[in-house]
Amino acid sequence: MASMASAAGVASAANSGGKSQIDALNWWTSGSEAKSMHVLKQMLADEGVEMNNDAVSGGGGANARTVLKSRIQSHRTPGMAQVMPPAIDQWCQTGLIGSLDKVAEAGNWDKKLAPRVAEGVKCDGKYAAVPFNIHRVNWLWVNKSLMREAGVDIPRSWPDFVDALKQLKQAGITPIAGGGNTWQVATEFDAVVATVGDAEFYRKALVELDQRALASDKMVKAFKRLRTLKQYTDPDAAGLSWNHNTGLVVRGEAAMQIMGDWAKGEIINDGKTPGKEIACVTMPGNDNAYIYNNDTFVAFKVDAKAKRRGQAVFANTVMSPKFQRRFNKAKGSIPVREKTSLKGFDQCAKKSAKLYQKAKKADALVPTMSQDQAEIGAVKGAIFDVIAKFYNTDKMSAEAAVEALASRVKQAEQMSSLSAG
Ligand code: BGC
Repeated sequence: MASMASAAGVASAANSGGKSQIDALNWWTSGSEAKSMHVLKQMLADEGVEMNNDAVSGGGGANARTVLKSRIQSHRTPGMAQVMPPAIDQWCQTGLIGSLDKVAEAGNWDKKLAPRVAEGVKCDGKYAAVPFNIHRVNWLWVNKSLMREAGVDIPRSWPDFVDALKQLKQAGITPIAGGGNTWQVATEFDAVVATVGDAEFYRKALVELDQRALASDKMVKAFKRLRTLKQYTDPDAAGLSWNHNTGLVVRGEAAMQIMGDWAKGEIINDGKTPGKEIACVTMPGNDNAYIYNNDTFVAFKVDAKAKRRGQAVFANTVMSPKFQRRFNKAKGSIPVREKTSLKGFDQCAKKSAKLYQKAKKADALVPTMSQDQAEIGAVKGAIFDVIAKFYNTDKMSAEAAVEALASRVKQAEQMSSLSAG
């Protein structure tokens, strides 16, 4: 049988007589993330490409983004690096981006990717990056037996959620594992914003940065709700990573976690079945929004031919149905390649795929603010700063947070347009 690479018109390293090597810079360091990357490493090795998995710790990728810049400054540019779509636009302007256009054409990516996804991975109209998956951010992970023992129902609406939190606390159970750092709080905030309005409100506020939406009463309500969550969060959470927090829910040391479905990867890695011991519930009050992100690796310009071949094999492998199934099963996400079979995936993945299609029809798919899918740079920094200050300062009112949010975002937008001009 032809190798996967040559089947799509890409010369595999093995076929062309040499070994290729590729550095892949990313922020996947938790147990399940590392396992998922191992799937890629093995599949590339089968094609004669040796992948150096250059993983930098820090959920959400803030550290990895800094390391990427320093690697480039010190002339150690990785062949591929994890970069979220809005930042691909910025990198595109630097002239440092390579091309995957030939691979994409041979592999017919135009037909295999939703137009929205395809747009996000292009630089000057040409494919420059490869998407891995679709993650959903607004999930609540719930330890079922802990809830059962405490006689608390799994919440579906915001009022039910608050009731459940109260009951759990009274029963001496830590209601929420979370809040370990600003990125985790921002992830919770994403979901909270979608409890006070529909997808349209989320889009206006956190994607379009509409001043009226940012300064609205709904946003005041969102901050108040974030404070409610804090009151029911493990008070010793500072500094704990997202995957540690998932572990607390899995082991029954906390009842729930609001987190993207990369948490599902950890649940599986801990030997549990998502949907069985740990329920995957839409964040209560989020029925009208599917907050997504697509993990994406961009190709940088590299001199050596063997490295360019490595990039082509990398991209082609990632888009293959085999990889899409194996990787996403381990990672907790669902395939980004359209029409990939979900046979053998857990029930949470099937639920995610269904909800995705439903949201697509209802125009309720929204890119996540917290995972750099909507905002980047100074604007995202401003939003994170306000969230952090509010979360860490109990005496700051929700009204003051909203005022700060609207003005800091406006200022950051003005500064960004100055530096672009
Ligand atoms: C990424 C996930 C990753 C998570 C935690 C998110 O921004 O999209 O793939 O698992 O961060 O590291």
